[in-house]
Amino acid sequence: MASTELSTKHVLGIKYLTVDDINLIFETAENFKEVINRPIKKVPSLRDVTVANLFFENSTRTKLSFELAEKRLSADVVNFSASSSSLKKGETLLDTVNNILSMKVDMVVIRHPAPGAPAYLAKHIDANIINAGDGTHEHPTQALLDAFSMREKLGDLKNKKIAIFGDILHSRVALSNIFCLQKLGAEVAVCGPPTLIPKHINKLGVKVMYDVRTALEWCDVANILRIQLERQEIKYFPSLREYSQYFGINKALLNSLDTKVVIMHPGPINRGVEITSDVADSDQSIILQQVENGVAIRMAILYLLAAKRDK
Ligand code: CP
Repeated sequence: MASTELSTKHVLGIKYLTVDDINLIFETAENFKEVINRPIKKVPSLRDVTVANLFFENSTRTKLSFELAEKRLSADVVNFSASSSSLKKGETLLDTVNNILSMKVDMVVIRHPAPGAPAYLAKHIDANIINAGDGTHEHPTQALLDAFSMREKLGDLKNKKIAIFGDILHSRVALSNIFCLQKLGAEVAVCGPPTLIPKHINKLGVKVMYDVRTALEWCDVANILRIQLERQEIKYFPSLREYSQYFGINKALLNSLDTKVVIMHPGPINRGVEITSDVADSDQSIILQQVENGVAIRMAILYLLAAKRDK
């Protein structure tokens, strides 16, 4: 029988979700996608629930998407951004969060540069914690919206071939995608310069490719990642121009393939570096559908975690 509740009270990483959890999130998101396309987009599911969005790192998509998801569910929402907080005066993460919780917050959405920060909070406080990206570790809601978008386009992901291109070494999106897609039965490859691919990644059961054309010929979906210059303390490739020449995906390359690969990107896009504009804006690209699906996926997660609070 299909599961009707999540196995966990937090969403800390895809690693900790079961296949039933993932399918339940997808099923719930399908219903919410229908809701957010109605003229009246708001439902009362999270009335009397207060959610704090704690962003200790920059974000456009994830922050707006969570806030919209919370408001569509009628939650009370408070937003915190590290740059304008008392963290600058030396307050610890736990003190900051405990002070926020004293204001009777039920759920915390947290993005933090330190891997493990959401798991640390989950050990110390009673609220439901949702990881909105922790350093180079995991970005579970991104992976769920990615897999949901692939599923909309291709159907069941079992045996589908997904290649993740670019800066795998610094990417939380890559790791969460690998866990999520493998749980759903897909085959996963990573492709990029050897310096940007973690040494032992094949131990996760992924194929490793260094040639973009070979990877594009192999895959049904190309999920293209940004070069995360802000996390790179040393040079991993000679120049962005050279990266673009050897690892960038352009229209001439796509048109030369026998198959029509689905193009994805979690954003923010560096146009002209990892992807050209004519690829990002082409009919093969589902980049904006990913963003739309992000709201439905986040509504589903908030709703399912709130349902567990009521028990
Ligand atoms: N995809 C993603 O996490 O984008 P933001 O950094 O803008 O939230």
